[in-house]
Amino acid sequence: MDTTALPDALRRALPLLTTEPAAAPLQDGYLDLLGAEEPQPSGPVQSLWESRAGTAVYEPVQAFARKVVARLRPPAERLHLPEGGTALDVGCGPGTVTAELGRDVGRRGLAIGVDVSRSMLRRAAEAHSGANVGFLRADVTDLPLRDASVDAVTCLMVLQLVHDQETALAECARVVAPGGRIAVLQPGYAGPGAGAVAAAAGLAGLRMPGHRAIAATLRAHGMTVVEAETTAPVARVLAEKPGPERA
Ligand SMILES: C[S@@+](CC[C@H](N)C(=O)[O-])C[C@H]1O[C@@H](n2cnc3c(N)ncnc32)[C@H](O)[C@@H]1O
Repeated sequence: MDTTALPDALRRALPLLTTEPAAAPLQDGYLDLLGAEEPQPSGPVQSLWESRAGTAVYEPVQAFARKVVARLRPPAERLHLPEGGTALDVGCGPGTVTAELGRDVGRRGLAIGVDVSRSMLRRAAEAHSGANVGFLRADVTDLPLRDASVDAVTCLMVLQLVHDQETALAECARVVAPGGRIAVLQPGYAGPGAGAVAAAAGLAGLRMPGHRAIAATLRAHGMTVVEAETTAPVARVLAEKPGPERA
C-alpha cells in the first residue's frame, strides 16, 4: 500500500493494524476499513448519528452537557495514560474526546478514534486530525487492531447503541495492553422505575446493560474492575488489565 497520502497519525497507526489495508482507503481524512460494508444501524438513534444533521447536533450538545454535568466527562487522568502512549477511542463520534486523548499522550503518543458513522468521522477528521490524532472507520465488535496494542481504551456513550455488547467489550479487553485501562461510560439510571426507563430506552433501540453487567463481562475477559457505579445520568466502569504497573 502506498502510504504517502496518509496523514501522519494514520501512517503511525498502520503497524498496530491486524492486516495492512491492500489499497489506501483514505476517505475524507479517515481510513475506511469497512469500505462498502454498511452495517445495519442498531436503531433510530444510531441512524441519527449516521446522518449529517445528527452529527451537527451532537457535537455542541455533548460539549454543553459535559460542561454542566461533570459525570459525563471522560475520566482523563484515571486512564493512567503514559506520555508517548497509545489511546483508542471507540465510537469516537465527532472526535472531541480523541483529541483530548491526543493532548494527554503528547506529541510522541498516538490517539486513534474508531467509529462506523461516515458522517461523524468526516467531522472528526476535519476538526481534529493531526500528527498524533487519526481516525478509522471500523466496528467496535471487530476492531482492526492487534492484541495488546494500545495503552488505554475509552468507550464513551457507545455501548447502548451496540447489539453485541459482550463482543464489543471483549474486543476492548483484547486490544488493551497489560497494565492498561478501559473506561466505559454510558447512559444509566438505577433509581425507582429503572425497569420502565430501560424498557422505554429499548423502544428507541437503546440497550442499557448497567454497570454490574458491564463489569462482569470485562472480568470474564480478564480485566480487573477498578470502579463500577451508576449515578444518573450515567453508568461508569473503569477496568485495568493485570500486568506491569505504570509509572
Ligand atoms: C453518542 S455518540 C458518542 C461519541 C463520543 N464517544 C462521545 O462520547 O462524545 C456514539 C457514537 O458511537 C458510534 N457507534 C455506534 N455503534 C458503533 C459500533 N458498532 N462501532 C463503532 N462505533 C459505533 C456512533 O456512530 C456514534 O458516533
